[in-house]
Amino acid sequence: MISRAVIDEIHHRADIVETISTYVTLKRAGSNFGGLCPFHSEKTPSFTVFPATRSFYCFGCGAGGDVITFIMKAENLDYPSAIELLGKRVGIDIVQDEKEAGALMKRKRVYEMNLEAAKFFRECLFDKTLGEPGMEYFRARGLSSAVIKRFGLGYAPQDFGMLTRHMRSKGFSEEELISGFLCGKSQKTGKPYDYFRGRVIFPIIDTAGNVIAFGGRVLDDSKPKYLNSSDTPGFKKSRNLFALNYAKDHCSEQLILCEGYMDVIALHAAGFQNAVATLGTALTSEQARIMAKYTKKVIISYDSDEAGQRAANRAIQLLSEVGLEIRVLKLNGAKDPDEFIKKFGADRFRHVLGQSKTGFEYKMDAILSKYILENAEDRIKASGELCGIIAGIASAAEREVYIGKVAAALSLTSDSLKSDVERQRKKLYYEQRKSDSREAVNSAKKYGDRINLDAVKNVAANAAEETILGLLLTYPEHREAVAKEKIALKNEDFFTAFGKKVFDAVMELHTSEDGYDSALLGQYFTDDEMGRITKYRVDRGQLSENGSDILRVSVEKLKAEKLKESEKSGEDKFASLRRKQQMAKERKNNIKNK
Ligand code: UTP
Ligand code: MN
Repeated sequence: MISRAVIDEIHHRADIVETISTYVTLKRAGSNFGGLCPFHSEKTPSFTVFPATRSFYCFGCGAGGDVITFIMKAENLDYPSAIELLGKRVGIDIVQDEKEAGALMKRKRVYEMNLEAAKFFRECLFDKTLGEPGMEYFRARGLSSAVIKRFGLGYAPQDFGMLTRHMRSKGFSEEELISGFLCGKSQKTGKPYDYFRGRVIFPIIDTAGNVIAFGGRVLDDSKPKYLNSSDTPGFKKSRNLFALNYAKDHCSEQLILCEGYMDVIALHAAGFQNAVATLGTALTSEQARIMAKYTKKVIISYDSDEAGQRAANRAIQLLSEVGLEIRVLKLNGAKDPDEFIKKFGADRFRHVLGQSKTGFEYKMDAILSKYILENAEDRIKASGELCGIIAGIASAAEREVYIGKVAAALSLTSDSLKSDVERQRKKLYYEQRKSDSREAVNSAKKYGDRINLDAVKNVAANAAEETILGLLLTYPEHREAVAKEKIALKNEDFFTAFGKKVFDAVMELHTSEDGYDSALLGQYFTDDEMGRITKYRVDRGQLSENGSDILRVSVEKLKAEKLKESEKSGEDKFASLRRKQQMAKERKNNIKNK
């Protein structure tokens, strides 16, 4: 267990607004801050940080909690690791028992292991005999020794055990090698064998200079062309970019985003040190946010084939969602930037960079080229599609500019296009609202509730529980009323298992020696559960009625629902009998009083 003093200190020093704003661009909205949620993809901000309660909550996806929960989710860490990371950032040394320290060492150990492996691969490449196939391959692709060294490129020999033996001699265990994806595990013997064999090696290095993973390419046309390390404690593909360690110092104006490792290396070699690539996966919104931290503008320079162009469309969307200015490069006469530079040279590439199109121009060109514009029907279709795209743009000024462009391209008046766009905007708005509410109903009915499994079994009981817990989480006087039994409420009164668990944690903290502190709840719950708990609190915060009357009524309601349930299941026949007698008595009294 991490001591309470440490948790307190972390909450004190790691300001929630400051911490979260290194991940999310936050804008002040009254006393709170809003931004685009980092945990799901959205266009309008529903992510909110509440400095007063030191918590955050996303009204879109339900993620929520405190600063530690945020770090757990954002960095994919468990509770102790999140504390350690935050502690490090704010200068708190966390003393833990050996076992915990061991778990936290993992990441550092993976980095050490990868560094050692990277050295091994590099030495193999530069070994005259062993590395010859790899060196020949790189030479044939036009890489100089300087470039090879700068990127730390290597070669994995065609052998099942060389790397394993080397790493074992350096003190890394078989389990470590397997869990770091440097080794596979033999199905027959359970023994490790080298994962990368007969491949040139591209180390992936993060912005702090750690070797976090490897990509390995075959030397011929065999498949799979690339092998990549899977995610490990130190590495998530979705939050890293190839060569960002170099590009980060050359990209305050713009970044060039490519698809392939070789494209990036060719661009850097030709003097474009602001090129990066994803790591064998499609661009993610996390990567888009990372880019937005380093630059203002991204030039998408994907392969010119159809797959590349489709990927570019997706990238345009993700990058514009994080507020980046976008340009798209269409390379003619070459399949990718690497080939383009080889064929036409760096100057020519610089020239086409300057002519890259905005995201909208790029989409407009694609649509216009589908139609024969002399044909009236085709022009109507093209105008409809373009207005649809413009309708989705949030900024009115941008919409106006694009309407002007479309009007010119199709020789139509801006006014008629404008009313088309407005009509489509209204339609979009209603569709969005419809799908929002449909989603809410579906997730409640069909898919149930992942966090509170019992909630669907009795919606009324759960609603009462949510009110009660929201009140107890927020107001000390309500907790005190329950603790002093001024209000009769016990664990058994709760209908859902999750409700019981939250109730116990809250009351345990309230009656503990040091008293209640919401910052300590994180120890008992997962990050998803913390999201739900935060929701209870946020829901109450939006209502003005939070007095003891509400608490009393909700407790009664919960108890009544609980009783109904037990009648249904016949578990407590006597209780239901007593209740019926009681109700009969009350009815008689009522009649008498009339
Ligand atoms: P490309 O096939 O365009 O590769 O895939 P490339 O880097 O341009 O390689 P060359 O020029 O043929 O040598 C683009 C990226 O997709 C990932 C890699 O990250 C690659 O750089 N990829 C591709 C894989 O992860 N696995 C594959 O089998 C193929
Ligand atoms: Mn290529």
